Amino acid sequence: MPPADLERLLVFGGGYTGGRFAAAVQAQGVATAITRRQPGSDTAPIRQLTFDPAAGLLPSVAELAGTTHLLVTIPPDSDGQDPVLAHLGAHLGDLPLRWVGYLSTTGVFGDTGGAWVAEDSATRPGLPRSRARLACEQAWRARGLPLQVIRLPAIYGPGRTPFASLLDGSARLIHKPGQVFSRVHVDDIVGALLHCLHLPAPERPDTLIVADEDPCPSSETLGYAAHLLGCKLPEVQTFERIATSLSPMARSFWSENRRASSLLLRQTLGYRLHFPSYRTGFPASRPLN
Ligand SMILES: NC(=O)c1ccc[n+]([C@@H]2O[C@H](COP(=O)([O-])OP(=O)(O)OC[C@H]3O[C@@H](n4cnc5c(N)ncnc54)[C@H](OP(=O)(O)O)[C@@H]3O)[C@@H](O)[C@H]2O)c1
Repeated sequence: MPPADLERLLVFGGGYTGGRFAAAVQAQGVATAITRRQPGSDTAPIRQLTFDPAAGLLPSVAELAGTTHLLVTIPPDSDGQDPVLAHLGAHLGDLPLRWVGYLSTTGVFGDTGGAWVAEDSATRPGLPRSRARLACEQAWRARGLPLQVIRLPAIYGPGRTPFASLLDGSARLIHKPGQVFSRVHVDDIVGALLHCLHLPAPERPDTLIVADEDPCPSSETLGYAAHLLGCKLPEVQTFERIATSLSPMARSFWSENRRASSLLLRQTLGYRLHFPSYRTGFPASRPLN
């Protein structure tokens, strides 16, 4: 059953996570729409609106009308602005919004040298994209809407695992002493969002980390993926030796080290993770790779 007040959902950015959340809500019989920059066929059963501000394409006021629940999955644009606020912010106050979810990143906490971060940890974003993200969070908070900022570590799931790179030989087994990554299965993002919507509004935290319980080195997850596939691991390479050969984006991921805690979600809000670890999440993600 959907929450009683969930009448009409609009997901800005019906990509990997947004498309799955929209599908889950629509399956409960709720009127649902997603935006894409270009209409695609992969989410065809869900109503699609075009939102491509760079091309001047915005949904109409009539298409937004009646939205009670909004999920925003679109990252900051190349100027660091939030595209929804920049182009449609003036209309948000006219909507009968009861819940707004904004998908953000645990990158806003910056590098903690591997220490745990929780919702009340200081935000010290070190990367330009994380500084832009924090500014977008703050811009959403300033709107006075019934907002939840959801901070996420690396998202994995079907089609987003190391299986393909192991099979095509592009996987790299990199060792950097002490380095860990946190992650979350996409089904748990969907599950946690639905869990929040079933809570009374005053019990929904305005900031929530959704992460699994098993931050660990990427060499460990790659090793497990290779084990599941029954294939050989590539030669181990030390980060120091290969850092300059990594793309700037990959290097930026390796430049920060932290563990994201989901205790608030699990212990206080009572959400039970479908996949507390990649050890169950990878096998469940395997058939679609
Ligand atoms: N992937 C991760 O590991 C990770 C980790 C932490 C946080 N996050 C954040 O969590 C959110 C969801 O991640 P995801 O992996 O599900 O994202 P995704 O699959 O890349 O989907 C993003 C959606 O936003 C739309 N979009 C992107 N830029 C846009 C723009 N400038 N104007 C209009 N629409 C735009 C895309 O449109 P099209 O459908 O037309 O492409 C897509 O529907 C994102 O904000 C992401 O940055 C991701």
